[in-house]
Amino acid sequence: MGIKIIGTGSYVPEKILTNFDIEKMVDTTDEWIRERSGITERRVAADDQATSDLATIAAQNAMSMANIEADELDLIVVATVTEDMSFPSTACIIQNNIKAVNAVCFDIHAACTGFIYGLDIVTSMMSSGRYNKAMLIGAEKLTTITDYEDRSTNFLFGDAAGAIIFSNTDDSKNCLLGSSLRSDGSFKDILNMPGGGSRVPIRENNVSDRLHYLKMDGPKVFKLAVNTMVKVSTEAIVAADVTVDELKWIIPHQANLRIINGVGKRLKVSTDKVFINVDKFGNSSSATTILSLDQLVRSGKVESGDKILLTAFGAGLTSGAAVLEW
Ligand code: ACO
Repeated sequence: MGIKIIGTGSYVPEKILTNFDIEKMVDTTDEWIRERSGITERRVAADDQATSDLATIAAQNAMSMANIEADELDLIVVATVTEDMSFPSTACIIQNNIKAVNAVCFDIHAACTGFIYGLDIVTSMMSSGRYNKAMLIGAEKLTTITDYEDRSTNFLFGDAAGAIIFSNTDDSKNCLLGSSLRSDGSFKDILNMPGGGSRVPIRENNVSDRLHYLKMDGPKVFKLAVNTMVKVSTEAIVAADVTVDELKWIIPHQANLRIINGVGKRLKVSTDKVFINVDKFGNSSSATTILSLDQLVRSGKVESGDKILLTAFGAGLTSGAAVLEW
């Protein structure tokens, strides 16, 4: 039994937060932000929009492309670090929104690598033959955990959602040609959100200490980012038994333009093959790679048979890469 992609969809909120808006919040400049990160603007969800609301629109767009009804889905997996609430899972909330009454639903937590982890999880579950149509979503409302008083992180993040739908096929072809996933918990302290879990439960004092916001040692993460993405990408390319030249597109996690360019250079791919939208949307964690893939597909730049490398890294430290055949 094989697996193919039958649809993608995405959604970004309308509200735009520019670098000039951030200049009004902290001591920074548009020039510094663009030079260090390549970001000029990012999207911000409305106060009454939770992660599941962004994801629901992305899911509906993917179902339209796939031309399926929600009750045909038997699996919904959501990668997110900004779930609507600790429980129930955001996947269950989306299930109820779209009325995917037959789907098994759960969330995965692998930070910015969540969508890439999800590709392995979903296609492995489908390979068992027990799931015929599955939706994988990457969705984040990161602006809720961004500390706008912290100038070292507040310009990086935006809100977005993306979804992909897989279907089983009668032939033996699997659209996931190869992948590599890695985790290294020894780096757990360089990127995290300390408050709100069982270690530091929500209490008045730690809210005033701003522990419920994302904390990051940017330069340390930066140094690891290129190396880890190049390593897992190389491993995924070998596992997929393809050459770099055979790849039509490279979609690196959209965290920082300098990191993206570093990955492209080290993998020795021409710059026109490396997809970039970090300038307009910033880092939307688990949504970046699927948002990018959907934008590429909808712009008509992906044809049947094209091989696409997606790679990401994030808190954990997690990293992953996957070669998909469209
Ligand atoms: N405006 C002006 N100056 C600033 C700002 C700012 N917004 N922020 C920091 N600076 C200053 C610093 O204080 C420092 O000054 P100093 O040299 O006098 O001490 C100087 O600028 C350089 O700061 P660095 O932090 O060293 O800047 P760097 O070049 O590393 O860029 C950045 C910072 C963009 C955050 C970079 O480190 C980065 O992109 N890191 C990776 C982030 C990332 O990819 N995260 C992804 C994971 S997210 C997730 O998993 C949810």
